This record gives sequence, C-alpha cells and structure tokens, in this order.
Amino acid sequence: MLTLKNKTASLIAAAVAQNFGEGLLSAEEILAMLEYPPDKSMGDIALPCFRLSKRLRRSPVQIAEALAASIKCEEFSSITAVNGYLNFKIDGTAFSRRVVGEVIEQGDKYGAPTFGAGKTVVLDYSSPNVAKPFHIGHLGTTVIGHSLKLLHEFAGYKCVGINYLGDWGTQFGKLIVAYKKWGDRATIEEGGVDELVKLYVRINNEIKAEEESNEEKKSPLADESRAEFRALEDGNEENLALWRWFVDVSLAEYQKTYKLLNIEFDSYKGESFYTDKMPAQVQKLRDMGLLEIDDGASIVNLDKWNMPVCLILKRDGSTLYPTRDIAAAVYRKGEYNFDKAIYVTSAAQSLHFAQWFKVVELMGYDWYDKLVHVPYGTVSINGAKLATRTGNVILLRDLFAEAIARVREIAKDKYTDEEELQAIAEKVGVGAIVFYYLSNNRMRDINFMMEDALSFDGNTGPYAQYTYARTCSVLEKVGEAGKMTGASLSELEVELAKTLSVFPERVISAIDDYEPSVVTRYILDLCAAFNRFYHECSIANCEDEKLRSSRIALTRATNQVLRTALNLICLQSPEKI
Ligand code: ARG
Repeated sequence: MLTLKNKTASLIAAAVAQNFGEGLLSAEEILAMLEYPPDKSMGDIALPCFRLSKRLRRSPVQIAEALAASIKCEEFSSITAVNGYLNFKIDGTAFSRRVVGEVIEQGDKYGAPTFGAGKTVVLDYSSPNVAKPFHIGHLGTTVIGHSLKLLHEFAGYKCVGINYLGDWGTQFGKLIVAYKKWGDRATIEEGGVDELVKLYVRINNEIKAEEESNEEKKSPLADESRAEFRALEDGNEENLALWRWFVDVSLAEYQKTYKLLNIEFDSYKGESFYTDKMPAQVQKLRDMGLLEIDDGASIVNLDKWNMPVCLILKRDGSTLYPTRDIAAAVYRKGEYNFDKAIYVTSAAQSLHFAQWFKVVELMGYDWYDKLVHVPYGTVSINGAKLATRTGNVILLRDLFAEAIARVREIAKDKYTDEEELQAIAEKVGVGAIVFYYLSNNRMRDINFMMEDALSFDGNTGPYAQYTYARTCSVLEKVGEAGKMTGASLSELEVELAKTLSVFPERVISAIDDYEPSVVTRYILDLCAAFNRFYHECSIANCEDEKLRSSRIALTRATNQVLRTALNLICLQSPEKI
C-alpha cells in the first residue's frame, strides 16, 4: 500500500498544482494527510480535504470535487468526492497484479527499508548476570533485543549484538567464599550453573542468618566475601581462575538457550571488561566539576532534571552500575562509531538509563542523543508473579523444555524419526513461547498461559507456522511457479494482496517504535487473509487456467512474506508440521 499511497500523493500534488497553482503543497505533505478509512465502503485510501482548506483557501467540498475531476490512475476503479473527502477505490485486479509481482520479484528483500545503509547500530540485550538464574524475566530482553537486531539488519544497518554479561561485582566474592567452603569441582562440572546458583543462594541465606543473630548485624561471611572480591579485583591468580571458570560454566548453559532461539552474539564483553576503562571517565567527571561528594560517595546531582542523584563511586571508592555503563558507552562509540545504541531491559531500569544518559550529555559527548533505552513490562506465569528473591523463579530453560515436551506429545504419532520429531518440537515449542510473548505491546505486563501459547487454533505461533507450512504444501502440490495473469479477482484475493502490500509499512513502524509486536500482529493478519482465501478459493483444482496461475502466485507471495516476517521475530519456518 505504501507504494500506492506514495503514488497517490504524487498524483494529488500534481493535481493541486494544476488546479490551484504551483508550490502550495508537496507530495510529502499530502502523503502524511492520507488515510486508510476504517469503513472500506468509503474507499481504500482517502484524503480528508479539510486539511487542505487553509492552504488552498477553498472549502473541503470544492477541493475534493476539483481533484476528483482531474486525477486519473488505472490502479483505481473510482476516485470520488464525498462530503469533502476524496476517496480512492482500488481496482483490485490491477493492484494485486502489481503487488504480487513486486513481492515475487524482490523475494526476501520485499519489505526491506533502505534507510539503514551505511549506518551502524549497537544492541545491548539479554545480558544475564553470571551465576544467577536465567529466568523468564530475561525472555523480554532476549527476544525483543534479537528481533530489533533482525529488523535493523533488514533495513540495511550494520548491527552489533552485544551480550553485556553481568560478570563482575561483589557476588563473585560471595561465590568464591561459598565455593571454597562448600563447593566441589566435579559437582559443578556435572551440574553446571544450577550448582553455582545453589552456592549463591546458600551463602546469601547464611549471611542473612549471621546478620540476624547479632545486634550490629555483623556477618563474618559477608566480610570474607568482600575481601575475596577485593583480591579478585587486585588480580589474585586463584580467584581470577575461579571467576573465569564460573563465567564459562554459566555461559555454556546460556548458549543452550541461545541455540534454541537461533541467537548468536557478536560480542560477549561483559561488565568485567570495563574495570580498567572507568577511571578515565571518573576523572573526566571530576575535572569537569560534575562530581559532588555526598556522605562519602561521589555522585552527579540531577535535581535540575527531576531525577535522583546518579551514583558514580561508593564511599569505599568502588564503582557502580552506572559508572560501568558510561565507560562501556564511551568504549563502544570508539569501537563501532554507532549511529544508534539500543539497550533493552525491563522497565524497572528506566530510571538508571535516564540518569546515566543525562550524565553522558553533561560530560559533553555529542552522541548522547544516539542512546536509546527500550523498556518492557513484567512477566508472570499462569497468574503467579515471579519473585526472584524468594527463589520462586521459573527458568527460561524449563519453560522451553515444557513447551517442547508438549509439542512432542501432540506430534509424536506423526513422526517416526526421533530426530525429526525433536527438531520440529523445538521449532514449534520455542516458537510458540516467543510468538506469544511478542504478540503484546512490549510495555504491557504479560501473564503467560502455556495452554494459550501452544494452541493450534488461536492466534499463536503454531497457527502461524502451520499456515506457512500450508503454503509450502500447496506450492509443492501444484509444482509450478504461477504468475499474475490479469484474471479478474474476487474480494478475498484482493484482500490478501492488500495485506501483502502493507508489509513494508509495518516493518517501518516496528523499527520506528522499537516494537516487534507490530510484525507479530501483521503475521496474524496475513495468516487470516490467506486462510480465508485458501478455504474459499480452490487453487490446485481451479479450472480457469489464468485464475489458477494468479492464485498460485498469490500463494507464493504469501509464502515469501510469511517466511520473512516470521524470521524477523525469531521464529523458524518449517516447511512441514
Ligand atoms: N545484567 C543486567 C541485568 O540482568 C542487564 C544489563 C543491561 N545492559 C546494560 N548496559 N546495563 O539486570
């Protein structure tokens, strides 16, 4: 539709110039005024002419009538003036022919914007904290982040996906103490990150018990942990080796989840990488007079911007989360010279980002406005809220495992080959969760219902993948490419072509709003349009040769766009289900 909308805007601009004089309104201005009327009987595209009255010094009715009389275009079956609206009705057959032709000709480039060419985007997402559970709270950052990466790549940007691992901080002091006291190498090698989490939970509980046992809330274990972390920071060999091992063990586990999601990162530079890059930024802050001492801590005052102070150094001189983010941003600017740096985290961190973005601005970095925080809402499962601290966590891994097991159960009779069954169960099971998650606006709080996500007849991932597989099987059965022949098309076929035609616009709005759900909802629209067409119009058995060819071409175009769109939201598109 975008092509047609553009074309319509140019036609109107020319007609305005002809009727009312040159230079009054540009095609671009007109483009912004065009609407898709919700009531299709009004037309497919409409121009509310009251928006032009002031500039053209005429009534909307006069304008609409003058324009209707002077615009001609074969893709419209009628152009009429109704109550100050200029209504364009599409000639379905001509329009569908052009759209489907475009899809087939452009293949997997169809719908790809070009505005990213020559530009670089850095995306910081997933970024779990090492030795802490990788739970479903991380689903959002992982799949929204990756989908945004795919969308930007689609638009031609060079993208760098960064997994900014939480691989530094006092938790490692605790883990080292816990490991030395209660840990066992073989157990951890065997059990992986779960064993690390157990140690971490245990030491936290014991520290709490110690603190509660005396008036001054003293904990020898906490003191020991701090000392071990300091030793780690000072480069103690033994501690460094342990730390590296903890990170590796955790990463090996995360990789399994990433593999299921088909995600690879370009960089795993985590928080630890920036330890030696912070002092320069702290010094710069100090030199610029931006640091204030507040109760021994070094802070940047953000009163003027109605935000609490941004903590840069603790009383003991140790650095903090914002300090590292500032150093990391400066490093990434130098390394990648990004045109945009995107950070995807839960909305709970919105203030943190607003604060340090402001500090970067105050530091005089002229790229401060290229930093973008993309927040998202909370997730609960089957109505139960997640409480990380009480240990009531649902691991992402377990959620995927359950979805995969359920799909296996449903599909087990259809597959004799075990490997094939497992492969399809992974694609459909994981896809179901991702699709369900990405069908809501990212800021919405989501209550995850497994039954709903896996249903084959709701608006779900399995339904979308099934529809894709259906297009594949139709194409395989007919065994020919088909092409738009100009055979007269029915309403259902034209509706399908119209749905195909809006894909490029949806991609743009998904990128503009950092909102993958726009693509998810588009997939549902396209599946609905295709399934209506499929149920009402025979394809393989259509007796009219020309019509049959057009229908095959429509199916092929749907197949193409569905595959592209599913891929943009991290879903695979198996050809058979
Ligand atoms: N590791 C952090 C967490 O799990 C997320 C990091 C987000 N990225 C950043 N540059 N701060 O909460």
